[in-house]
Amino acid sequence: KNIAIIMGGYSSEYKISLISGNVVYKFLDQSKYNGFRIHIFKEKWVYVDDADNEFPIDKNDFSITVNGNKISFDCVFNAIHGTPGEDGLMQAYFELLNIPQTSCDYYQSALTFNKRDLLSVLKPYGIKTAISYYLNKGDVINTAEIINKVGLPCFVKPNKAGSSFGISKVKTEAELPTAIETAYKEDNEIIIESFLDGTEVSVGVINYKGEIIVLPITEIVSENDFFDYEAKYQGKSQEITPARLSDEMTQKVGTIAKRAYEVLKMKGFSRSEFIIVDGEPHMLEMNTIPGLTTESLIPQQAKAAGISLEDLFTNAIELALA
Ligand code: DAL
Ligand code: MG
Repeated sequence: KNIAIIMGGYSSEYKISLISGNVVYKFLDQSKYNGFRIHIFKEKWVYVDDADNEFPIDKNDFSITVNGNKISFDCVFNAIHGTPGEDGLMQAYFELLNIPQTSCDYYQSALTFNKRDLLSVLKPYGIKTAISYYLNKGDVINTAEIINKVGLPCFVKPNKAGSSFGISKVKTEAELPTAIETAYKEDNEIIIESFLDGTEVSVGVINYKGEIIVLPITEIVSENDFFDYEAKYQGKSQEITPARLSDEMTQKVGTIAKRAYEVLKMKGFSRSEFIIVDGEPHMLEMNTIPGLTTESLIPQQAKAAGISLEDLFTNAIELALA
């Protein structure tokens, strides 16, 4: 079967996505699949062969023509973090073309990529969150009102972005305007959240061979102020899998992450972030195209569960094709 591994994308996360996509390519089971690396950039959608020759994608049917032969794809392995791979755009396109792909569907992608909307949908199910304040570009910024609601310190985040791009931890009211400006560089919507003082954990939930399972949980201990870009990708954090939680707490946070997956009718991968405060997990977000670099958490969690990368990727493709 021909598998298009899509990578790149239009957001600040494109470099991470290229690494994730190449890991998928490297660990694809070649006895079952022919992998094709497809770069999706604003300027070009191209198939890139092993000698780095580029062949344009025909967007009418997502096919390529190589040496006069037209090649179509049986399945898309989606490794694009951020837009247009994690927010529903590519999902809707492939659904229209009737090409199976490994992530959740377009609605779930759009919903989960929007932190504000995801958390407001999950709140009535009893899932706890930080106290939050929202801004759209152009809104009047009343720093006193913001601090009054969320307190200090607080986090200023772009509502729709990943890999901690545009996020600041704010300790004084005076720092707010700059933090807001930074977040607006990534998105025209902003979410400002109260600081949750507790244990940060990352919970992978995937459909594995038809069963929804919780992977071993990772505890994140950041050397920086929070789990920022440097902490994530330049080793400035300790990632401990399985997390040093009691069996009871492991069960509790795992159950919440799995419930979120089920409530939203997710497919494929998910990795939800929580901060446990006084025994209560608070959800920060859910990633549906989680990083697959060797530093990334899902590969670490799969390994701890005894699932090889090859097996993990085969599983994702088989489920997409089922
Ligand atoms: N957004 C990054 C890639 C992650 O969730 O791992
Ligand atoms: Mg994220």
